Parts: sequence; structure tokens; C-alpha cells
Amino acid sequence: MDEKRNLEVTLEKMRRDWDERARENARFYVNTERTDWTDQEFFASGEQTVREEILTDMTNICQGKLPTDMRVLEIGCGAGRITRALARLFGEVHAVDVSGEMIACAQQALADFPHAHAYQNNGMDLSVVPADAPFDFAFSTIVFQHIPSREVIENYIREVCRLLRPGALFKFQVQGDATMQTDPDDTWLGVPFSEADARKMAEDCGFELRYHHGAGAQYFWLWFFKKA
Ligand SMILES: C[S@@+](CC[C@H](N)C(=O)[O-])C[C@H]1O[C@@H](n2cnc3c(N)ncnc32)[C@H](O)[C@@H]1O
Repeated sequence: MDEKRNLEVTLEKMRRDWDERARENARFYVNTERTDWTDQEFFASGEQTVREEILTDMTNICQGKLPTDMRVLEIGCGAGRITRALARLFGEVHAVDVSGEMIACAQQALADFPHAHAYQNNGMDLSVVPADAPFDFAFSTIVFQHIPSREVIENYIREVCRLLRPGALFKFQVQGDATMQTDPDDTWLGVPFSEADARKMAEDCGFELRYHHGAGAQYFWLWFFKKA
């Protein structure tokens, strides 16, 4: 198989596997801490992520702007757990996910938030997101750790760069444990990144890697600022 065909197969597999997981138990596969989340508990877990990763970091994220004036992007929104919490804080939220089943759950979760939008995408670009104004902040967690293709992740980084305003932050998490053996057919375990990999990816894709946390671990957090 040629490379283009390999990529198409991987994208199709990601969509199919995540649709199946969503049909089986979307909330469990989004957050495996529980199999039987109530609405309240599930959305509280998204609020907790926002408290821990966003509200503690508002200087880097807002850069002097009011959150209600900000346009925010989320990659891999799943069932809308974090998207909903982002919508409580920010003026406009746009989120993508490869799984149409997950997007259906997210759209339900966002029904009372007309300024929040969730779109199914093709698993590697952001062409479905309206690019009528630049984004002020982008966020992604527990998504790239599941993507078995470095090419797909890098493409997302370039796409986020295309949509962000200069200077803005893309804060995201990747798999940092290099001992994990990945397989392109396995859509649960994503490709690992070392600190050097992350730095190179930032440089190659138009960002400065200013901070990082958790190198070598599953939750390797990266702060990519778009170069001015
Ligand atoms: C573990 S869930 C996390 C969802 C959400 N980030 C959260 O924390 O609530 C991972 C999500 O990533 C999505 N995903 C996996 N591969 C993707 C890809 N290539 N592009 C977009 N979304 C993807 C899955 O469909 C799933 O909804």
C-alpha cells in the first residue's frame, strides 16, 4: 500500500473504532474512571479539567483579553465534557472530533450553549471549522495520546497554527512514554513524543515550545505559542 492509502486506512479506522466505542459507552471511553457516569458527574469532570489546566493558566491563555471576548478551539472534544466547561468561560467555542457518534453526544451536551459548536472532521484537518476570524486559544487533552500516526498529529499542529492569531497559545497533551510500542492499527495507543520531538515539531509547524510538563509520562503537556 502507498503512503496516501495507509493514511486513509488509519483515518477510517480511527473514525470506525471511536464510533463503536461511543455506541458502546461514550462516557466511559472519554473518561475511563467510571463506567456509569451520571450527567452531573461527567460534566463535573470536565469542569475539573478546566479548573486544573485552564483557570490556573489564564495569563498565558488570555494574554490580557477578557475570556468572554475570546474565540477558542478544541481538538477531539468527545462527548462535550470539556467543551461545555469551556463554553461557560469563553465567548465562542468551536470543537472537532473524528467520530460522528461522539459529536452527536457533544451537540446534546451543548444544546444550551448557542455560542459553542461541535463538528465531525476527517481526523486530521480543521477545514470544517469556520476561519472567518482568528482563534485566541486552542486546547486538546486525552486525544493525541490515542492517535497512532505522527503525520496526523503534526498535521493538526499545522492546522491549529493556521487558525490561531500570532502569539496565541495551543496547550495540549501528548503521550510522553517512549517505552510504549505503537501500532498504526491500534487507535487506543498514540505515538509517543520526547522533549526533542516536541521541540522539533513546534519549530517545523510555526510555534515556539515555551513550556512543557510531564516529559516521559503519559500526560506530557506542551505549551506551543504561535510565532509572531
Ligand atoms: C478519550 S476521548 C477524550 C475526549 C475529550 N478530549 C475529553 O477529555 O473529554 C478521545 C477523543 O478523541 C477523538 N479522536 C481520536 N482520534 C481523533 C482524530 N484523529 N481526530 C479527532 N478526534 C479524534 C475520539 O473520537 C474521542 O472522542
